[in-house]
Amino acid sequence: MAAQKKERWASRIGLILAVAGNAVGLGNFLRFPAQAVDNGGGAFIIPYLVSFLLMGIPLLWVEWAIGRHGGQHGHHSTPGMLDVLGRSPILKYFGVFGIFTNLVVAAYYCYIESWTLAYSFYSITGAFNGMQPDEIATYFDNYLGSNSGGTFNFPVTAIIFFLITILLNLWILSKGISRGIEKASKILMPILFVFGIFLAIRALTLTAGELGAKHDAIDGLNFLWTPDMNALTNPKVWLAAAGQVFFTLSVGMGSILCYAAYLRKKDDVALNAVSAGFMNESVEVILGGSIVIPIAVAYMGLESLASYSGFGMSFKTLPTLFQNWGPIFAALGGFIWFSLLFFAGITSSLAMGQPVLAFLQDSFKFTRNKATIAFGITIFILAVPTIILYDAGAFGEYDFWAGTFSLVVFALGESVIFLWIFGIDKAWAEINKGADIKIPIFFKYVLKYVTPTFIIIVFVASLIQPAGGEWSQAFTSLFSGNGWPLDPGSVIGNVLHIGVEDPDKIFITNLVRILLVIVYAVIGTLVYLAWKIKFKEAK
Ligand code: ALA
Repeated sequence: MAAQKKERWASRIGLILAVAGNAVGLGNFLRFPAQAVDNGGGAFIIPYLVSFLLMGIPLLWVEWAIGRHGGQHGHHSTPGMLDVLGRSPILKYFGVFGIFTNLVVAAYYCYIESWTLAYSFYSITGAFNGMQPDEIATYFDNYLGSNSGGTFNFPVTAIIFFLITILLNLWILSKGISRGIEKASKILMPILFVFGIFLAIRALTLTAGELGAKHDAIDGLNFLWTPDMNALTNPKVWLAAAGQVFFTLSVGMGSILCYAAYLRKKDDVALNAVSAGFMNESVEVILGGSIVIPIAVAYMGLESLASYSGFGMSFKTLPTLFQNWGPIFAALGGFIWFSLLFFAGITSSLAMGQPVLAFLQDSFKFTRNKATIAFGITIFILAVPTIILYDAGAFGEYDFWAGTFSLVVFALGESVIFLWIFGIDKAWAEINKGADIKIPIFFKYVLKYVTPTFIIIVFVASLIQPAGGEWSQAFTSLFSGNGWPLDPGSVIGNVLHIGVEDPDKIFITNLVRILLVIVYAVIGTLVYLAWKIKFKEAK
């Protein structure tokens, strides 16, 4: 623990950039536009902003405060941080989520990150020059090894890029908090901003007739920024908006708490949390909303936008659209876009690595290098199913259970533990200790009542989300005795494999779930052992 205690952030700007780097990720540039399109553009934006203010910001305060408090007790990962907030021994086992989520998400997230590295390389080397749109789409399928038609994918090149990506992450992580993560963020985040601004300006100034564009790109912005008040009563949109807020801010993961643990006792958390949150939101709605959607609208039209969703579409479609800019600007545009994604991705995956390293260092006295190697090997092994069973749905399972469901569960648990068990008065004092802003007292009540209620509603709604998100129809069906029609995407629908006919898919999905439960149990056992060692040492 002694070696850990010495680790600190070197400067406030470095800290803010690292925390913003943690938040600003693939979620801002790929997930946000896809979610906005899927949920009606302007219809999405109000529930999204309300969720950010009533849930995102309060959760950021909660996580920063728990993290700094835990750090003062020598804990840099969530089992120990939660353990010191109450008397129950269960708290630390709940804290396992903060390691489990980071490990599992890092596995598939680094895989996507490696696609962006590969695609910036392919773009700059002109690999897509002269290709037809369907050839570019097939290129991506081939890259993932999906064209074999069988259950398994064997993408050799993708695995090589994945290994390079993991090694880059490990190299930065091995250098430590200030010389590794902070330094990387200070270099990569400004480049990311410049690349983002360049692409946003290029995208928004595209007019019909220019460089092969069929429509004005600005129509895409209007689509996103024309609020639709009717959507306020649509729980499906609220659920998607809240889910995006979780993912994009990295709340409920355990990584923010870990970064905050390297603060000093009286360092501000109130303003830092808000600044990093707003920086992430600006990048998301201003830059994230001004690149993919306007470019897609300029070339494909608003009508085709609906087909433009999911992580993969950016790899299948954008290189095609860049082809309209001529060979040199296509190569440059592609390189800038995919490097931006890579920088966004790596500054987030570093934040997933640090809590795991911290746990091994704090609890088992691992050296930083040894912990880094252990993290690298583990995420590679965990990623194998998502790579070779990509088409069979392993990737989606990881994303659903670790990248979506676990975030909500952990956020709910940490709020209850901090605001209700530790207690709102102590929690409020902890948030305001050393604060550089005065948080309006109104937020004390938001924290105690509104935020947990909000998360409970999101949680319950995600469990029982009805087919197609049609809540009124579902209630009609229930009251007329026809039962509750569950959506295949709801948590219970997922558990029950609703709508899945293929027995192989069900079998593989179940295997993946068992694997995830085993991962949780192994980390839980390590926590048990760590506390046993600590208890012995204390005697
Ligand atoms: N917050 C990170 C992202 O947006 C995980 O990608």
